[in-house]
Formats: sequence, C-alpha cells, structure tokens
Amino acid sequence: MKNILIVGAGGQIGSELVPHLQRIYGADHVVATDIKADTKSSQKLAQNGIFEELDALNAAQFAELVGRYRIDTIFNLVALLSATGEKNPQLAWKINMGALLNSLEIAREHRCAVFTPSSIGAFGESSPHDNTPQDTVMRPSTIYGVCKVTGELLGDYYHSRFGVDARSVRFPGIISNETLPGGGTTDYAVEIYYAAVRGQEFVCPIPQGSYMDMMYMPDALDAVVQLMEADPAKLVHRNSFNITAMSFEPSAIYEAIRRRRPDFKMTYNVDPVRAAIANSWPNKMDDSCARAEWGWSPKWDLESMTDDMLRVIADKYSKGLI
Ligand code: SER
Repeated sequence: MKNILIVGAGGQIGSELVPHLQRIYGADHVVATDIKADTKSSQKLAQNGIFEELDALNAAQFAELVGRYRIDTIFNLVALLSATGEKNPQLAWKINMGALLNSLEIAREHRCAVFTPSSIGAFGESSPHDNTPQDTVMRPSTIYGVCKVTGELLGDYYHSRFGVDARSVRFPGIISNETLPGGGTTDYAVEIYYAAVRGQEFVCPIPQGSYMDMMYMPDALDAVVQLMEADPAKLVHRNSFNITAMSFEPSAIYEAIRRRRPDFKMTYNVDPVRAAIANSWPNKMDDSCARAEWGWSPKWDLESMTDDMLRVIADKYSKGLI
C-alpha cells in the first residue's frame, strides 16, 4: 500500500482508520473521501490530511480521484447498517452494492487492491451459532446481510476472474469512541458507555442473553492493515475472514461497567427488529483461519476495553467535547 483512497471515510471506522493509515504510510499517501464534507468527522479529516468530497456511486468522479492521486489501494467503507437497512432495503442495496461495484470496477481498471468489510451480519438463522465456522451456511435475513454475502462473492469473483487483490474481514460489532455508529444492531455496546459517563440510565434495545461478537477499534484497525499487508501466497481465503475479539451479551457489559461505576443503571426496552437480527447472528465466530493465514491476534478484551472506553469518554465529557 503506497497511495490509499478511502470511500465513506467520515463514518465510525473511517474516522479512525484514516489517522491510523496516515501514521503508518504518511499523510501525503492517504486520501479520505466522504459524501458529506460538512459533518464534524469530515471537517476533522480535512484539517488533518487530504480530503475530497465524493459520492461513491459517482463512478466517473471516483475514477478521476483514483487516477489523479495514483491510488493503488481502495478502502470501501460505505454502508447503511443492519437496522437502518431494514427501513429502506432498496436504498440499502443501491448504496451498499453501488459503492462496492464501483470500487471493484475502478480497482480492475486502475490495478488497485480493495479492502471492504463484511460482517457477522453475513450469517443467518441457519448458520451454526456457536463457533461459527469460516466456511458454512450463509442465508442472512437482512438486506444488510444479503449485501455482505453478495459482496464477499463479488470480491472473490473479481479476484479469480480479473486478478483484483480483493480482501475482507467479517467484522463483529466494533466499539469505539471517536465517531458513533448509526443504525446498527451492535450499537448498544457503544452507546452504553456514553450513558454511563453522562450518569444516565441506559435503556438496552437488545434482550438479555443475546450474545454477539464484538471488538475494540484498535484491534479492528490492526486487523485491516495486517490483512492488507499479508503475503498473498499464504491466503487460502480472501472474502471474507471471520475475526472476533470477545463475545458478550448485554448483562455482561453492564456488569463490567458497574464494577467501575456502581451507580450505573440499565433497563431493557427490547426493539423487536434489532432483537430478531441479533438472534439470527452468531454467538461467537471461529476465527482460526484468520489466525493461521495472516496472524490475526486481538489484544483487547471486555475488561481492558471497558477501562479504556470509560477513561477516553470521561475525558472528552470533562472537556465539553461530547
Ligand atoms: N455493526 C453492524 C451492525 O450492527 C454489524 O456489522 O449492523
């Protein structure tokens, strides 16, 4: 990776992946793009490096930027998440698949590598829920998952048919403190920390006992770079690798916070849409292929992440930044 372009850079992952890539490859080698230039996260990206306004569905403008900056690696982070997708499935398909198809086509024409995240959402009710294997039944019940499975197949197709170096991971819920996720099923595990720091009661939309895989953002950033730098000769799989760092359900994260903030309170008001999605996803994935093929090894668990999340968010809160 020498010259990198990120589409959808203003979102939860991009707002932290961009500075991470800038530190590794140099700010002059990272071009952040987003459909909106006027959001807080886009403005921050523009202050700290190269930023271009780009609608990833506009193939001509997308290709022009790839040519202009001599891009060799595209990170496609454009997506409507699982719960939002259910409100407008046609729009979710149009955005999620449109951005990916443009990324792959432009990568083919300009000989770029492509990273695009898949998700635990690619699995469904008929997938094994415990130690979900790398290769297994994938019949998701959400449009988000349908897009993810299609995207995995397309990534492998562009690799075998056109030689595009397409790679991907199935991310679990990502927990972070820079930019909030929006419209996902795993978002509760981010929002709960903000409520705890603000001294508010947290109303949990996910039922007690509903386990999902999760990961702290620093591990997610390391995974992306490690996979994209991996020796292609060692990759048996490409699109897409199971990776996980922890698996918990709402009462476990609540108890982890309460051990540090004993006054914190959580109640449940289960959202049936999110509950059904969560119950159709794995409880815990088997990520042994990622470990064997490119050395995946997470560093953060629920306890260390909870210490760090509370510390960082409390610091921002005390400075009036949130
Ligand atoms: N975080 C995503 C969601 O909840 C899963 O990939 O939709």
